[in-house]
Amino acid sequence: MERKEILVSEEEKARQEEFAAMVRALPHRPESYHVVTYGCQMNAHDSEKIAGMLEEMGMVPAEKREDADFVIFNTCCVRENAERRALGNVTWLKEVRKQKPELLIAVCGCMIQEPGMAETILKQYKFVDLAFGTANLHKLPELIYETLNSGRQVVSVEDRDVIAEGLPVRRLRNDAAYVTIMYGCDNFCSYCIVPYVRGRERSRDPETILREAEGLAKAGVKEIMLLGQNVNSYGKGLPGDPTFAGLLKRLDGLGIPRIRFMTSHPKDLSDELIDVMANSRHVLPQFHLPVQSGNNEILKKMNRHYTREQYLDRVAKLRQAIPGIGLSTDIIVSFPGETEAQFEDTLSLVNEVRYDSAFTFIYSPRTGTKAASMGGLIPEEVSSERIQRLIALQEGLQQETLKRFIGQEEEILVEGLSRRSRQAVSGKGKHAVSVTVEGSEDDIGQILKCRIVNLKNNTLTGERI
Ligand code: 5AD
Ligand code: SF4
Repeated sequence: MERKEILVSEEEKARQEEFAAMVRALPHRPESYHVVTYGCQMNAHDSEKIAGMLEEMGMVPAEKREDADFVIFNTCCVRENAERRALGNVTWLKEVRKQKPELLIAVCGCMIQEPGMAETILKQYKFVDLAFGTANLHKLPELIYETLNSGRQVVSVEDRDVIAEGLPVRRLRNDAAYVTIMYGCDNFCSYCIVPYVRGRERSRDPETILREAEGLAKAGVKEIMLLGQNVNSYGKGLPGDPTFAGLLKRLDGLGIPRIRFMTSHPKDLSDELIDVMANSRHVLPQFHLPVQSGNNEILKKMNRHYTREQYLDRVAKLRQAIPGIGLSTDIIVSFPGETEAQFEDTLSLVNEVRYDSAFTFIYSPRTGTKAASMGGLIPEEVSSERIQRLIALQEGLQQETLKRFIGQEEEILVEGLSRRSRQAVSGKGKHAVSVTVEGSEDDIGQILKCRIVNLKNNTLTGERI
């Protein structure tokens, strides 16, 4: 596809700004909004854009959903329970509206982009006022105007792979910011619905990304998180073939204290990237590298394009180049047909790698994906026993891996007050592990130097230096 067709045009952007002004001028428009977000960082960042657009339409944030005039659910469909939770919460709001008839309810995000979901909303969720997919996010002003003006249910789904630059953003944090570098995914891992709902891979122009990051640096942001379904394949289809490693190197030069990124695909993790990370000043020594399974046959059926051995080679290279690097992963248990022996290969891989943390999931069939028609679904009792064994193993190992930080210096970016004590704050160290340290509200958003002194229940505590 031509670049011109991917970028939302200036005319279209101006049109949406006009709609925003028209909504603002409506006498009975919603005064306040609340965004409910499910799923990944990509969705969290989309919600920041939604909030930005709603504020441009004159709405102010409401802390609780029951207090808002406009509630929007930004959904995820990567696993069935994420979807069920979202739909359950949307239905709950129907009750709130009985007391508050003017309440406006919208549903957007990945779930709406699923085949058949728009029809379901039209037929079974008639109380939903507005539903739109990921490709129409930038059209929110127009869609809200139409909803308010027509008094009818508006459902708008498109199958276009666009990039909308320059949307207003209301960031959740002032100290740390998300920066999307690429959208969509072309990998078609056989279990995954993302390529169907987020469309084809497309990268943002490097100069635009750099300008955005420069703006954030000037605003005093201490950390940026680069986002994409597979950041390692950044640059495909762009003039001059920029690479992720190249982009990272340029961003490193801006002087933003901390740079992180997610998510990566092991098959695209280049030596060049490892080299750039090892020689950078601000790219943090951490890597989220989803393995999904430790068995070669399962990896093949998952369409992952690497073997256990190749994965372990990447891990070894990372550890050699960046000693002490923080490693985390995603793992799926009970992929269709997974035998006990194949599952044990995953356990042995986890044992071998020794991650600092692991996100573990039971396989969830997603309509339209290749795995959904493979047969060999594993019974629930087996799956839940497997995931418990995996979690127990990981927790035990974590108690060991985290010990390497005791006595070490760490810099933590404080996220908030500790859940356990009001005299303590917690945040993430450079290696992506959570650290609790003595402090107060004034420390939130600051980078604190500390020495790690204790490890208890997989939580590190530090002392300020
Ligand atoms: N079932 C279970 N887990 C899944 N993931 C993606 N699709 C599925 C599915 N159908 C997991 C993968 C991915 C993470 C974001 O979600 O581990 O890395
Ligand atoms: Fe899904 Fe695989 Fe793409 Fe990740 S790389 S979003 S798991 S298809």
